[in-house]
Amino acid sequence: MQLPQAQAAVLEAASAREAQSIDELAAATELPPETVTGAAFGLEEAGLVTVSERVEEAVTPTDEGIEYAERGLPELRLYEAASDVGAGDEPVPMGQVIGAADLEGAAVDIALSNYARKGYGTIDGGEITADPAVEPDADPEARTLDSLAEGGAVSGLDGESLEALERRGLVDRSETTVRELTLTEAGVTALMEGVEVAETVGRLTPALLTSGEWRDVEFAEYNVGADAERIEGGRVHILRQTAERVKDVLVGMGFREMEGPHVDADFWINDCLFMPQDHPARTHWDRFALADPTHIEELPADLVEAVERAHREGVGEDGEGYHSPWDEEFARALALRGHTTSLSARYLSGHEIGGLEPPQRFFSVEKVYRNDTLDPTHLLEFFQIEGWVMAEGLSVRDLMGTFEEFYAQFGITDLEFKPHYNPYTEPSFELFGTHPTTGELVEIGNSGIFRPEMLEPLGVDCDVMAWGLALERLLMLMYGFEDIRDIHGTLCDLDLLRNTEVTY
Ligand code: PHE
Repeated sequence: MQLPQAQAAVLEAASAREAQSIDELAAATELPPETVTGAAFGLEEAGLVTVSERVEEAVTPTDEGIEYAERGLPELRLYEAASDVGAGDEPVPMGQVIGAADLEGAAVDIALSNYARKGYGTIDGGEITADPAVEPDADPEARTLDSLAEGGAVSGLDGESLEALERRGLVDRSETTVRELTLTEAGVTALMEGVEVAETVGRLTPALLTSGEWRDVEFAEYNVGADAERIEGGRVHILRQTAERVKDVLVGMGFREMEGPHVDADFWINDCLFMPQDHPARTHWDRFALADPTHIEELPADLVEAVERAHREGVGEDGEGYHSPWDEEFARALALRGHTTSLSARYLSGHEIGGLEPPQRFFSVEKVYRNDTLDPTHLLEFFQIEGWVMAEGLSVRDLMGTFEEFYAQFGITDLEFKPHYNPYTEPSFELFGTHPTTGELVEIGNSGIFRPEMLEPLGVDCDVMAWGLALERLLMLMYGFEDIRDIHGTLCDLDLLRNTEVTY
């Protein structure tokens, strides 16, 4: 019989009397375990071996577990120190015992809570007692931990202690599949009749192609159904993938991309947007101010003057300003931008890429920073999809139509609009979409038509409609997760990030 090389080697190393594990066969054949596994499945298919599988549980002590195995569990150290100073007879002050037990930091709390749980004594009013009936050497958790730290097998260990140790984070449990091979009768027969290594080719090379040899050689068969180790390669984060897709969609709709600083002067972030300097969003509660440097060096003097005038007096004949103080120093203060509308102000002012003639369309997909409280729908930083269209005679229908067109590209066709207020837009609308699993309305953006009080100082004399949409919220509607922390930070849902299929 002819067999591929690895199969021939494994068949020869296998036995009919004794099941052998993949690891044992790998050692015997000097082949990598993956190769042996592949060969095993091939041989099994040919009926030459049987492969049995069982799941083996492994329990390994964590770093903290190893430390306690060496130094003793904190509650045991506490018990011994307490007994040593006579807490078996009468209560002794806690401070004295903690010091003698050489416990510090988190270990103190760990010691106290487990001491109480295990009934080693009482802890009351700053004093501790030790129950003399306790046998510290018999502590089942300590014995189980010691045995594991010495490399002992899991079978035969006390299940309850194992669970307690796992809850305490002192051991990790994992499962591995162990496969064992035994020769079948057909396998024994094949070996007796003699097995030859088949000259099969595992890989098609350029040389085989150019020489024409590929026509005559025998190719090794792949077993695509075999179990293989899962390789978790790196991949682009779904948020980043969607950001790229958003950019593509907007470019497809005729928009150009804006760029600009994450840290900017309040002037560009707020004052240019006709945000009064005493607006609640401008207090230190809401913004991340910069400590060094604290202020921008330069602002365009003509624009500063025009913006100040709009704030003080308003714009147009019936214009009303805020009649409140306006201070250039305040406007020059630097902060992490709370929205990317700072970029829109910069571009509209003509100070980024020169004066712009209508029609124009611009966007950015960039990070913004807000001093919010973290919750399932709020982060301290998120990506905003900023955009604006400059043209003559724009209306709310244009704004809504643009959103319908944009969101439809992401499968979102049930947008809802709600009147809103922004100091810099009139009218203003919040946008909502329906969460695919909870059915709740989720706010996904804010928009409006820029007011003359904003546009006139910037030197723009036609209509501009604009918006800021949350990329993470768009993602929630697309992929159905409910907590924004599933995709950001240390609590993120790795399975979601690995397995979400991104469709274009
Ligand atoms: N700056 C607004 C926000 O962050 C979004 C917006 C931009 C609204 C432009 C209207 C016009 O919520």
